Amino acid sequence: MKLVIEKLPDLRALYIKQLRSLLSAEEEILRGLPILAELATDTQLKQALESHLKETEIQAQRLRGILTQIAGEAQPLTSRAVMALIDEAEDMVQGCSHDAVRDAALIASAQRIEHYEIAAYGAVGHFARVLGRESDVGALGQTIDEEEHADRLLTSVAARVNPAAKKAA
Ligand SMILES: [Fe+2]
Repeated sequence: MKLVIEKLPDLRALYIKQLRSLLSAEEEILRGLPILAELATDTQLKQALESHLKETEIQAQRLRGILTQIAGEAQPLTSRAVMALIDEAEDMVQGCSHDAVRDAALIASAQRIEHYEIAAYGAVGHFARVLGRESDVGALGQTIDEEEHADRLLTSVAARVNPAAKKAA
């Protein structure tokens, strides 16, 4: 596959490109999260994934708003990284025959995605600050807070699920 390399002459262009990639990431997560939530056995885990799905819809909407303001349109740019993380999660989870082990795999996979998002939003949030786009800084910061909250919630579910997975035959 030959890729066309888009010219990025300045930080503003890089900021827009990364926002477009994040929009694609959120759209991929909107596609993948219901599949992962459906496979969860632990009630709290299922709820955590489902409630993050609702937050993800808002996060995608926030990105569309920011992109429309700065670029006049909100065109996603395929995030191959998140697509691969979700594919890998689906493969990993399908290999688990015990409920608790599957839940442990779901948590580990979901946290990989969360950490990717936290890193990516952290970078664009700083770009927004340097570019003097204060309202974007606020909106992106809100998304980071939600991602971090989701991550902490998954850590607390793992504290219960992982020991149960250890006992799996
Ligand atoms: Fe997100």
